[in-house]
Amino acid sequence: MYNSIVARSFSQHGQKKMRRGAFFGGLVLGFFICIYSTPYQGPLAFGKYIILTSRTKLFSCSSRLVKYSDSRADVTTPVKSRIVCNFTEPESDFCEMHGDIRILGSSSTIFIPHFSVADMFTKNNSSGIKPYARKSDEGALERVRQFRFSQEMHRCTQNHSVPTVLFSIGEYTGNYFHSFSDVVIPLYTTSRKFNGQVQFLLADKKVSWTKKFRVVLMKLSNYEAIDIDKEDGVHCFPGMIIGLKKHKELSIDPLESPDYSMTNFREFLRSSYYLKREYAIRLGSKGKKRPRLLIISRKRTRTFMNENEIGKMAQKLGFDVVLAEASSNISEFSKLVNSCDVLMGVHGAGLTNIVFLPKNAVLIQVVLFGGVEWLATTYFGDPSKNMNLRYLEYKISEKESSLIQKYPLDDEVFKNPQSIAEKGWPYYKSVYLDNQNVKLDVFRFKTTLLEALQMLSM
Ligand SMILES: *[C@@H]1O[C@H](CO)[C@@H](O)[C@H](O)[C@H]1NC(C)=O
Ligand SMILES: *[C@@H]1O[C@H](CO)[C@@H](O)[C@H](O)[C@H]1NC(C)=O
Ligand SMILES: *[C@@H]1O[C@H](CO)[C@@H](O)[C@H](O)[C@H]1NC(C)=O
Ligand SMILES: *[C@@H]1O[C@H](CO)[C@@H](O)[C@H](O)[C@H]1NC(C)=O
Ligand SMILES: *[C@@H]1O[C@H](CO)[C@@H](O)[C@H](O)[C@H]1NC(C)=O
Repeated sequence: MYNSIVARSFSQHGQKKMRRGAFFGGLVLGFFICIYSTPYQGPLAFGKYIILTSRTKLFSCSSRLVKYSDSRADVTTPVKSRIVCNFTEPESDFCEMHGDIRILGSSSTIFIPHFSVADMFTKNNSSGIKPYARKSDEGALERVRQFRFSQEMHRCTQNHSVPTVLFSIGEYTGNYFHSFSDVVIPLYTTSRKFNGQVQFLLADKKVSWTKKFRVVLMKLSNYEAIDIDKEDGVHCFPGMIIGLKKHKELSIDPLESPDYSMTNFREFLRSSYYLKREYAIRLGSKGKKRPRLLIISRKRTRTFMNENEIGKMAQKLGFDVVLAEASSNISEFSKLVNSCDVLMGVHGAGLTNIVFLPKNAVLIQVVLFGGVEWLATTYFGDPSKNMNLRYLEYKISEKESSLIQKYPLDDEVFKNPQSIAEKGWPYYKSVYLDNQNVKLDVFRFKTTLLEALQMLSM
Protein backbone atom coordinates (compact mmCIF):
# COMPACT_ATOMS: atom_id res chain seq x y z
CA MET A 1 0.00 0.00 0.00
CA TYR A 2 2.80 2.35 0.86
CA ASN A 3 4.16 2.06 -2.61
CA SER A 4 1.12 3.48 -4.24
CA ILE A 5 1.34 6.31 -1.80
CA VAL A 6 4.90 7.22 -2.39
CA ALA A 7 3.85 7.01 -5.96
CA ARG A 8 1.45 9.84 -5.55
CA SER A 9 3.85 11.92 -3.59
CA PHE A 10 6.36 11.52 -6.30
CA SER A 11 4.04 12.49 -9.06
CA GLN A 12 3.37 15.64 -7.08
CA HIS A 13 6.26 17.29 -8.82
CA GLY A 14 4.48 17.27 -12.10
CA GLN A 15 1.21 18.08 -10.48
CA LYS A 16 2.64 21.04 -8.67
CA LYS A 17 3.68 22.58 -11.94
CA MET A 18 0.23 22.14 -13.32
CA ARG A 19 -1.37 23.44 -10.19
CA ARG A 20 0.70 26.55 -10.21
CA GLY A 21 -0.85 27.41 -13.52
CA ALA A 22 -4.27 26.59 -12.23
CA PHE A 23 -3.65 28.69 -9.18
CA PHE A 24 -2.97 31.86 -11.10
CA GLY A 25 -5.98 31.15 -13.24
CA GLY A 26 -8.00 30.88 -10.07
CA LEU A 27 -6.67 34.17 -8.79
CA VAL A 28 -7.56 36.08 -11.90
CA LEU A 29 -10.99 34.57 -11.90
CA GLY A 30 -11.23 35.39 -8.22
CA PHE A 31 -10.57 39.05 -8.80
CA PHE A 32 -13.27 39.26 -11.39
CA ILE A 33 -15.80 37.49 -9.29
CA CYS A 34 -15.11 39.09 -5.99
CA ILE A 35 -16.79 42.43 -6.11
CA TYR A 36 -18.68 44.67 -3.80
CA SER A 37 -22.33 43.93 -3.59
CA THR A 38 -23.12 46.97 -1.48
CA PRO A 39 -21.05 50.04 -0.82
CA TYR A 40 -18.91 49.73 2.21
CA GLN A 41 -18.20 52.28 4.88
CA GLY A 42 -15.02 51.93 6.86
CA PRO A 43 -11.65 50.29 6.69
CA LEU A 44 -11.68 46.93 5.14
CA ALA A 45 -8.67 45.58 3.43
CA PHE A 46 -5.93 44.22 5.65
CA GLY A 47 -3.20 43.46 3.23
CA LYS A 48 -3.71 39.91 2.24
CA TYR A 49 -7.14 39.35 3.64
CA ILE A 50 -10.42 41.02 4.06
CA ILE A 51 -12.98 41.14 6.78
CA LEU A 52 -16.52 40.60 5.66
CA THR A 53 -19.54 41.40 7.70
CA SER A 54 -23.03 40.25 7.03
CA ARG A 55 -24.13 43.87 7.03
CA THR A 56 -21.87 44.98 4.27
CA LYS A 57 -22.01 41.81 2.24
CA LEU A 58 -18.74 42.83 0.84
CA PHE A 59 -16.79 40.34 -1.04
CA SER A 60 -13.16 40.01 -1.80
CA CYS A 61 -10.83 37.15 -2.41
CA SER A 62 -7.44 38.70 -2.34
CA SER A 63 -4.96 35.86 -2.06
CA ARG A 64 -7.89 33.51 -1.70
CA LEU A 65 -8.00 34.17 2.00
CA VAL A 66 -11.34 35.18 3.33
CA LYS A 67 -11.99 36.43 6.80
CA TYR A 68 -15.61 36.72 7.58
CA SER A 69 -17.11 38.20 10.70
CA ASP A 70 -20.59 39.04 11.84
CA SER A 71 -20.78 41.63 14.55
CA ARG A 72 -24.53 42.04 14.61
CA ALA A 73 -25.96 41.76 18.07
CA ASP A 74 -29.64 41.89 17.38
CA VAL A 75 -32.24 39.88 19.24
CA THR A 76 -32.62 37.05 16.81
CA THR A 77 -28.91 36.44 16.45
CA PRO A 78 -27.34 36.93 19.83
CA VAL A 79 -24.27 34.92 18.83
CA LYS A 80 -21.37 36.82 17.42
CA SER A 81 -19.91 34.88 14.57
CA ARG A 82 -16.57 34.97 12.95
CA ILE A 83 -15.14 32.88 10.19
CA VAL A 84 -11.60 32.73 9.01
CA CYS A 85 -10.71 30.56 6.08
CA ASN A 86 -7.34 30.09 4.53
CA PHE A 87 -7.04 28.51 1.13
CA THR A 88 -3.46 29.49 0.51
CA GLU A 89 -1.82 26.78 2.58
CA PRO A 90 0.10 24.36 0.41
CA GLU A 91 -1.43 21.21 1.87
CA SER A 92 -4.71 22.06 3.51
CA ASP A 93 -7.74 24.28 3.16
CA PHE A 94 -9.31 25.07 6.46
CA CYS A 95 -11.82 27.32 8.16
CA GLU A 96 -12.11 28.31 11.76
CA MET A 97 -15.60 29.40 12.76
CA HIS A 98 -17.04 30.78 15.94
CA GLY A 99 -20.71 31.24 16.60
CA ASP A 100 -23.73 29.18 15.75
CA ILE A 101 -22.39 26.33 13.61
CA ARG A 102 -24.52 23.35 12.66
CA ILE A 103 -23.79 20.29 10.65
CA LEU A 104 -25.83 17.61 8.95
CA GLY A 105 -23.35 14.84 8.31
CA SER A 106 -25.39 12.69 5.99
CA SER A 107 -25.65 15.55 3.51
CA SER A 108 -22.11 16.86 4.18
CA THR A 109 -23.48 20.32 4.83
CA ILE A 110 -22.40 22.87 7.38
CA PHE A 111 -25.01 25.46 8.24
CA ILE A 112 -24.04 28.90 9.31
CA PRO A 113 -27.50 30.35 9.66
CA HIS A 114 -26.63 33.94 10.38
CA PHE A 115 -24.25 34.39 7.54
CA SER A 116 -24.49 34.74 3.86
CA VAL A 117 -21.36 32.71 3.94
CA ALA A 118 -22.59 30.52 1.19
CA ASP A 119 -21.73 33.39 -1.09
CA MET A 120 -18.17 33.00 -0.20
CA PHE A 121 -18.16 29.59 -1.76
CA THR A 122 -20.81 29.73 -4.40
CA LYS A 123 -20.02 33.07 -5.96
CA ASN A 124 -16.63 31.98 -7.03
CA ASN A 125 -17.91 28.54 -7.85
CA SER A 126 -16.15 26.69 -5.13
CA SER A 127 -18.14 23.87 -3.72
CA GLY A 128 -16.60 23.42 -0.31
CA ILE A 129 -13.76 21.91 1.67
CA LYS A 130 -12.13 18.53 1.70
CA PRO A 131 -10.62 18.27 5.15
CA TYR A 132 -7.59 16.14 4.41
CA ALA A 133 -4.12 17.63 4.51
CA ARG A 134 -2.58 16.63 1.19
CA LYS A 135 -4.13 18.91 -1.32
CA SER A 136 -1.08 19.14 -3.56
CA ASP A 137 -1.85 15.55 -4.47
CA GLU A 138 -5.09 15.33 -6.36
CA GLY A 139 -5.18 11.57 -6.10
CA ALA A 140 -5.16 11.81 -2.33
CA LEU A 141 -8.28 13.96 -2.33
CA GLU A 142 -10.25 12.03 -4.89
CA ARG A 143 -12.37 10.09 -2.48
CA VAL A 144 -12.25 12.47 0.46
CA ARG A 145 -15.67 13.71 1.52
CA GLN A 146 -16.34 17.30 0.62
CA PHE A 147 -18.29 19.58 2.93
CA ARG A 148 -20.43 22.39 1.65
CA PHE A 149 -21.58 25.49 3.43
CA SER A 150 -25.13 26.70 3.55
CA GLN A 151 -27.03 29.48 5.16
CA GLU A 152 -30.20 27.46 5.70
CA MET A 153 -31.65 27.19 9.16
CA HIS A 154 -32.08 23.73 10.65
CA ARG A 155 -33.24 22.72 14.10
CA CYS A 156 -30.57 21.21 16.30
CA THR A 157 -31.13 17.60 17.24
CA GLN A 158 -28.09 17.65 19.46
CA ASN A 159 -26.48 20.61 21.16
CA HIS A 160 -22.81 20.43 22.05
CA SER A 161 -21.23 22.72 24.57
CA VAL A 162 -17.71 22.39 23.16
CA PRO A 163 -16.34 23.29 19.73
CA THR A 164 -15.61 20.66 17.12
CA VAL A 165 -12.76 19.75 14.83
CA LEU A 166 -13.90 18.11 11.62
CA PHE A 167 -11.38 16.13 9.61
CA SER A 168 -11.15 13.26 7.20
CA ILE A 169 -9.24 10.06 7.73
CA GLY A 170 -8.77 10.07 3.99
CA GLU A 171 -7.67 7.43 1.65
CA TYR A 172 -3.99 7.09 2.39
CA THR A 173 -4.24 6.44 6.09
CA GLY A 174 -3.98 2.70 5.64
CA ASN A 175 -0.34 3.74 5.52
CA TYR A 176 1.38 4.41 8.79
CA PHE A 177 3.44 7.31 7.51
CA HIS A 178 0.43 9.13 6.09
CA SER A 179 -1.54 8.52 9.26
CA PHE A 180 1.03 10.52 11.18
CA SER A 181 2.03 13.07 8.59
CA ASP A 182 -1.43 13.88 7.20
CA VAL A 183 -3.64 13.35 10.22
CA VAL A 184 -2.16 12.71 13.66
CA ILE A 185 0.42 15.51 13.73
CA PRO A 186 -1.88 18.14 12.15
CA LEU A 187 -4.65 17.02 14.49
CA TYR A 188 -2.33 17.50 17.42
CA THR A 189 -1.32 21.04 16.46
CA THR A 190 -4.94 21.93 15.74
CA SER A 191 -6.67 20.49 18.76
CA ARG A 192 -4.19 20.34 21.63
CA LYS A 193 -5.08 23.84 22.73
CA PHE A 194 -8.61 22.72 23.67
CA ASN A 195 -7.19 20.56 26.39
CA GLY A 196 -9.69 17.79 25.71
CA GLN A 197 -12.70 20.09 25.53
CA VAL A 198 -13.31 19.42 21.86
CA GLN A 199 -15.54 17.07 19.91
CA PHE A 200 -13.97 15.31 16.92
CA LEU A 201 -16.06 14.69 13.84
CA LEU A 202 -14.53 12.06 11.61
CA ALA A 203 -15.26 11.92 7.92
CA ASP A 204 -14.42 8.88 5.82
CA LYS A 205 -14.05 6.98 9.05
CA LYS A 206 -12.40 3.60 9.06
CA VAL A 207 -12.97 1.51 12.13
CA SER A 208 -9.52 -0.03 11.90
CA TRP A 209 -7.94 3.41 11.92
CA THR A 210 -9.87 4.75 14.90
CA LYS A 211 -9.07 1.57 16.77
CA LYS A 212 -5.43 1.86 15.94
CA PHE A 213 -5.17 5.51 16.99
CA ARG A 214 -7.66 5.33 19.83
CA VAL A 215 -5.10 6.30 22.44
CA VAL A 216 -4.25 9.51 20.61
CA LEU A 217 -7.88 10.40 19.93
CA MET A 218 -8.87 9.83 23.55
CA LYS A 219 -5.95 11.84 24.79
CA LEU A 220 -6.80 14.84 22.62
CA SER A 221 -10.55 14.79 23.20
CA ASN A 222 -12.68 14.01 26.23
CA TYR A 223 -15.51 12.92 23.97
CA GLU A 224 -16.04 9.84 21.84
CA ALA A 225 -15.38 10.82 18.20
CA ILE A 226 -18.47 10.96 16.01
CA ASP A 227 -18.59 9.23 12.65
CA ILE A 228 -20.10 12.18 10.82
CA ASP A 229 -20.74 10.54 7.44
CA LYS A 230 -23.76 8.68 8.66
CA GLU A 231 -25.22 11.23 11.07
CA ASP A 232 -28.68 12.29 10.01
CA GLY A 233 -29.32 14.49 13.00
CA VAL A 234 -28.20 18.12 13.09
CA HIS A 235 -25.32 18.63 15.52
CA CYS A 236 -24.84 22.14 16.82
CA PHE A 237 -21.60 23.62 18.07
CA PRO A 238 -20.36 26.93 19.41
CA GLY A 239 -17.43 26.69 17.03
CA MET A 240 -15.81 24.54 14.42
CA ILE A 241 -12.49 24.02 12.75
CA ILE A 242 -12.76 22.18 9.48
CA GLY A 243 -9.57 20.86 7.96
CA LEU A 244 -6.20 20.30 9.55
CA LYS A 245 -3.15 22.38 8.87
CA LYS A 246 -0.05 20.52 7.85
CA HIS A 247 3.37 22.14 7.66
CA LYS A 248 5.95 19.75 6.29
CA GLU A 249 6.06 15.97 6.10
CA LEU A 250 6.14 14.44 9.55
CA SER A 251 7.09 17.78 11.11
CA ILE A 252 5.81 20.78 12.94
CA ASP A 253 7.17 24.13 11.80
CA PRO A 254 7.89 26.22 14.91
CA LEU A 255 7.13 29.39 12.96
CA GLU A 256 3.66 28.16 12.07
CA SER A 257 2.93 26.59 15.41
CA PRO A 258 4.65 28.58 18.13
CA ASP A 259 2.79 26.81 20.94
CA TYR A 260 3.26 23.20 19.97
CA SER A 261 6.55 21.95 18.61
CA MET A 262 7.63 18.53 17.49
CA THR A 263 9.29 18.18 20.87
CA ASN A 264 5.91 18.76 22.51
CA PHE A 265 4.32 16.26 20.18
CA ARG A 266 6.87 13.59 21.02
CA GLU A 267 6.39 14.34 24.69
CA PHE A 268 2.66 13.95 24.16
CA LEU A 269 3.19 10.54 22.54
CA ARG A 270 5.51 9.49 25.31
CA SER A 271 2.93 10.26 27.94
CA SER A 272 0.01 8.83 25.90
CA TYR A 273 1.74 5.50 25.37
CA TYR A 274 3.54 5.41 28.70
CA LEU A 275 6.99 5.38 27.16
CA LYS A 276 9.72 5.44 29.76
CA ARG A 277 12.76 6.85 28.10
CA GLU A 278 13.19 10.51 27.39
CA TYR A 279 16.85 10.28 26.40
CA ALA A 280 18.84 7.68 24.52
CA ILE A 281 21.80 6.06 26.20
CA ARG A 282 24.91 8.17 26.59
CA LEU A 283 27.96 6.02 26.15
CA GLY A 284 30.54 7.13 28.66
CA SER A 285 33.88 5.80 29.64
CA LYS A 286 32.24 3.57 32.22
CA GLY A 287 30.25 2.06 29.34
CA LYS A 288 28.83 -1.04 30.91
CA LYS A 289 25.46 -0.76 29.23
CA ARG A 290 25.02 -1.78 25.64
CA PRO A 291 23.11 0.45 23.26
CA ARG A 292 20.11 -1.16 21.59
CA LEU A 293 19.79 -1.33 17.83
CA LEU A 294 16.39 -1.91 16.24
CA ILE A 295 16.51 -3.26 12.71
CA ILE A 296 13.18 -2.64 11.00
CA SER A 297 12.56 -5.73 9.01
CA ARG A 298 10.37 -5.75 5.91
CA LYS A 299 8.95 -8.92 4.47
CA ARG A 300 7.41 -8.14 1.12
CA THR A 301 9.34 -5.37 -0.58
CA ARG A 302 12.67 -3.66 0.07
CA THR A 303 13.81 -6.43 2.35
CA PHE A 304 17.19 -6.92 3.92
CA MET A 305 18.47 -10.18 2.48
CA ASN A 306 21.05 -10.69 5.19
CA GLU A 307 19.39 -9.46 8.37
CA ASN A 308 21.11 -12.05 10.51
CA GLU A 309 24.53 -11.17 9.22
CA ILE A 310 23.87 -7.48 9.92
CA GLY A 311 22.63 -8.35 13.40
CA LYS A 312 25.70 -10.43 14.21
CA MET A 313 28.08 -7.75 13.09
CA ALA A 314 26.23 -5.13 15.16
CA GLN A 315 26.42 -7.39 18.19
CA LYS A 316 30.15 -7.67 17.78
CA LEU A 317 30.36 -3.88 17.78
CA GLY A 318 28.62 -3.81 21.15
CA PHE A 319 24.95 -3.45 20.32
CA ASP A 320 22.04 -5.40 21.68
CA VAL A 321 20.13 -6.13 18.52
CA VAL A 322 16.39 -6.32 18.04
CA LEU A 323 15.04 -7.41 14.69
CA ALA A 324 11.36 -6.62 14.25
CA GLU A 325 8.74 -5.95 11.68
CA ALA A 326 6.76 -2.80 12.45
CA SER A 327 3.55 -3.89 14.10
CA SER A 328 0.16 -2.24 13.84
CA ASN A 329 -0.28 -2.41 17.58
CA ILE A 330 1.11 0.99 18.41
CA SER A 331 0.95 0.61 22.19
CA GLU A 332 3.13 -2.41 21.95
CA PHE A 333 5.52 -1.38 19.21
CA SER A 334 6.10 2.14 20.52
CA LYS A 335 7.48 0.63 23.72
CA LEU A 336 9.91 -1.49 21.78
CA VAL A 337 11.04 1.49 19.71
CA ASN A 338 11.40 3.67 22.77
CA SER A 339 13.65 1.08 24.38
CA CYS A 340 16.16 1.44 21.52
CA ASP A 341 18.95 3.92 20.84
CA VAL A 342 19.47 3.34 17.15
CA LEU A 343 16.83 2.50 14.57
CA MET A 344 17.82 1.35 11.11
CA GLY A 345 15.81 0.41 8.07
CA VAL A 346 15.27 0.78 4.37
CA HIS A 347 13.11 3.70 3.32
CA GLY A 348 9.51 2.78 4.11
CA ALA A 349 6.54 3.47 6.36
CA GLY A 350 8.06 1.48 9.22
CA LEU A 351 10.58 4.28 9.76
CA THR A 352 7.70 6.48 10.93
CA ASN A 353 8.27 4.80 14.27
CA ILE A 354 11.15 7.20 14.89
CA VAL A 355 8.54 9.42 16.55
CA PHE A 356 8.81 7.08 19.55
CA LEU A 357 12.59 7.09 19.82
CA PRO A 358 14.09 8.80 22.82
CA LYS A 359 15.87 12.11 22.29
CA ASN A 360 19.39 11.93 20.85
CA ALA A 361 18.74 8.49 19.40
CA VAL A 362 20.07 7.78 15.92
CA LEU A 363 18.16 6.98 12.74
CA ILE A 364 20.10 5.14 10.06
CA GLN A 365 18.21 5.22 6.81
CA VAL A 366 19.36 2.76 4.18
CA VAL A 367 18.88 4.45 0.84
CA LEU A 368 18.15 2.26 -2.15
CA PHE A 369 19.90 2.46 -5.47
CA GLY A 370 18.21 4.57 -8.16
CA GLY A 371 18.20 8.22 -7.23
CA VAL A 372 15.62 7.99 -4.48
CA GLU A 373 17.61 10.24 -2.15
CA TRP A 374 15.00 12.98 -2.20
CA LEU A 375 12.39 10.55 -0.93
CA ALA A 376 14.68 9.59 1.90
CA THR A 377 15.40 13.18 2.83
CA THR A 378 11.89 14.57 2.55
CA TYR A 379 10.10 11.81 4.37
CA PHE A 380 12.48 10.86 7.14
CA GLY A 381 15.84 12.63 6.94
CA ASP A 382 14.63 16.18 7.46
CA PRO A 383 11.83 15.19 9.84
CA SER A 384 14.27 13.34 12.10
CA LYS A 385 16.22 16.55 12.59
CA ASN A 386 13.00 18.21 13.74
CA MET A 387 12.72 15.56 16.46
CA ASN A 388 16.01 15.90 18.33
CA LEU A 389 17.35 12.78 16.68
CA ARG A 390 20.64 12.16 14.97
CA TYR A 391 20.50 11.12 11.36
CA LEU A 392 22.74 8.94 9.22
CA GLU A 393 22.22 7.84 5.67
CA TYR A 394 23.72 4.78 4.13
CA LYS A 395 23.52 4.73 0.35
CA ILE A 396 23.84 1.24 -1.03
CA SER A 397 26.07 0.50 -3.99
CA GLU A 398 25.09 -1.46 -7.11
CA LYS A 399 26.67 -4.51 -5.59
CA GLU A 400 24.43 -4.40 -2.55
CA SER A 401 21.29 -4.16 -4.64
CA SER A 402 19.30 -7.16 -5.81
CA LEU A 403 18.95 -5.35 -9.13
CA ILE A 404 22.32 -6.77 -10.02
CA GLN A 405 20.72 -10.17 -10.43
CA LYS A 406 18.23 -8.81 -12.94
CA TYR A 407 20.04 -6.28 -15.04
CA PRO A 408 23.52 -6.18 -16.50
CA LEU A 409 25.76 -3.50 -15.02
CA ASP A 410 25.68 -1.49 -18.23
CA ASP A 411 21.89 -1.39 -18.23
CA GLU A 412 20.12 1.97 -17.99
CA VAL A 413 18.81 0.88 -14.60
CA PHE A 414 22.35 1.34 -13.29
CA LYS A 415 23.75 3.85 -15.72
CA ASN A 416 20.89 6.29 -15.89
CA PRO A 417 18.10 6.16 -13.29
CA GLN A 418 16.91 9.51 -14.63
CA SER A 419 15.95 7.89 -17.91
CA ILE A 420 13.93 5.32 -15.98
CA ALA A 421 12.20 8.13 -14.12
CA GLU A 422 11.32 9.71 -17.44
CA LYS A 423 9.37 6.61 -18.36
CA GLY A 424 6.88 7.52 -15.67
CA TRP A 425 6.47 6.97 -12.01
CA PRO A 426 4.77 3.54 -12.11
CA TYR A 427 7.66 2.11 -14.07
CA TYR A 428 10.30 3.83 -11.96
CA LYS A 429 8.60 2.67 -8.80
CA SER A 430 8.31 -0.89 -9.97
CA VAL A 431 12.01 -1.01 -10.83
CA TYR A 432 13.54 0.68 -7.80
CA LEU A 433 11.00 0.52 -4.99
CA ASP A 434 8.88 -2.56 -5.49
CA ASN A 435 11.50 -4.91 -6.80
CA GLN A 436 14.72 -3.99 -5.14
CA ASN A 437 16.05 -5.76 -2.08
CA VAL A 438 19.21 -5.07 -0.18
CA LYS A 439 22.10 -7.24 0.77
CA LEU A 440 24.22 -4.97 2.92
CA ASP A 441 27.96 -5.25 2.62
CA VAL A 442 28.46 -5.55 6.37
CA PHE A 443 32.07 -4.43 6.20
CA ARG A 444 31.15 -1.28 4.39
CA PHE A 445 28.16 -0.72 6.66
CA LYS A 446 30.27 -1.13 9.77
CA THR A 447 31.58 2.42 9.40
CA THR A 448 28.03 3.77 9.67
CA LEU A 449 27.34 1.79 12.83
CA LEU A 450 30.58 3.04 14.33
CA GLU A 451 29.49 6.55 13.52
CA ALA A 452 26.22 5.89 15.33
CA LEU A 453 28.18 4.71 18.38
CA GLN A 454 30.27 7.83 18.16
CA MET A 455 27.12 9.95 18.13
CA LEU A 456 25.79 8.17 21.19
CA SER A 457 28.91 9.03 23.12
CA MET A 458 28.60 12.75 22.42
C1 LIG B 1 -13.09 30.24 -4.76
O1 LIG B 1 -12.68 30.64 -3.50
C2 LIG B 1 -12.24 29.61 -2.70
C3 LIG B 1 -11.98 30.21 -1.37
O2 LIG B 1 -11.85 31.60 -1.43
C4 LIG B 1 -11.00 28.96 -3.34
O3 LIG B 1 -10.61 27.84 -2.61
C5 LIG B 1 -11.34 28.53 -4.73
O4 LIG B 1 -10.20 28.05 -5.37
C6 LIG B 1 -11.93 29.67 -5.52
N1 LIG B 1 -12.33 29.18 -6.82
C7 LIG B 1 -12.11 29.85 -7.94
C8 LIG B 1 -12.61 29.21 -9.18
O5 LIG B 1 -11.53 30.91 -7.94
C1 LIG C 1 -2.74 31.67 5.32
O1 LIG C 1 -1.80 30.77 4.77
C2 LIG C 1 -0.64 31.38 4.23
C3 LIG C 1 0.22 30.32 3.59
O2 LIG C 1 0.70 29.41 4.52
C4 LIG C 1 0.08 32.15 5.33
O3 LIG C 1 1.20 32.80 4.79
C5 LIG C 1 -0.87 33.13 5.96
O4 LIG C 1 -0.23 33.77 7.03
C6 LIG C 1 -2.12 32.46 6.44
N1 LIG C 1 -3.01 33.46 6.95
C7 LIG C 1 -3.55 33.39 8.17
C8 LIG C 1 -4.41 34.54 8.56
O5 LIG C 1 -3.36 32.47 8.92
C1 LIG D 1 -19.51 26.72 -12.04
O1 LIG D 1 -19.42 25.33 -11.93
C2 LIG D 1 -20.35 24.65 -12.73
C3 LIG D 1 -20.23 23.16 -12.41
O2 LIG D 1 -18.93 22.83 -12.06
C4 LIG D 1 -20.08 24.97 -14.19
O3 LIG D 1 -21.02 24.28 -15.00
C5 LIG D 1 -20.21 26.45 -14.40
O4 LIG D 1 -19.88 26.79 -15.72
C6 LIG D 1 -19.29 27.21 -13.45
N1 LIG D 1 -19.53 28.64 -13.56
C7 LIG D 1 -18.56 29.54 -13.60
C8 LIG D 1 -18.98 30.96 -13.67
O5 LIG D 1 -17.38 29.24 -13.56
C1 LIG E 1 -30.48 23.19 21.48
O1 LIG E 1 -30.39 24.55 21.91
C2 LIG E 1 -31.38 25.40 21.37
C3 LIG E 1 -31.07 26.83 21.79
O2 LIG E 1 -30.63 26.87 23.10
C4 LIG E 1 -32.76 24.93 21.87
O3 LIG E 1 -33.77 25.76 21.33
C5 LIG E 1 -32.98 23.49 21.40
O4 LIG E 1 -34.19 23.00 21.92
C6 LIG E 1 -31.83 22.60 21.86
N1 LIG E 1 -31.98 21.30 21.23
C7 LIG E 1 -31.80 20.16 21.88
C8 LIG E 1 -32.04 18.92 21.11
O5 LIG E 1 -31.44 20.13 23.05
C1 LIG F 1 -1.66 -4.42 21.77
O1 LIG F 1 -0.83 -5.23 22.53
C2 LIG F 1 -1.10 -5.18 23.93
C3 LIG F 1 -0.01 -5.93 24.66
O2 LIG F 1 0.40 -7.03 23.96
C4 LIG F 1 -2.49 -5.72 24.17
O3 LIG F 1 -2.79 -5.70 25.54
C5 LIG F 1 -3.49 -4.89 23.40
O4 LIG F 1 -4.77 -5.42 23.53
C6 LIG F 1 -3.12 -4.79 21.93
N1 LIG F 1 -3.95 -3.79 21.31
C7 LIG F 1 -4.58 -3.99 20.18
C8 LIG F 1 -5.38 -2.86 19.65
O5 LIG F 1 -4.52 -5.05 19.57
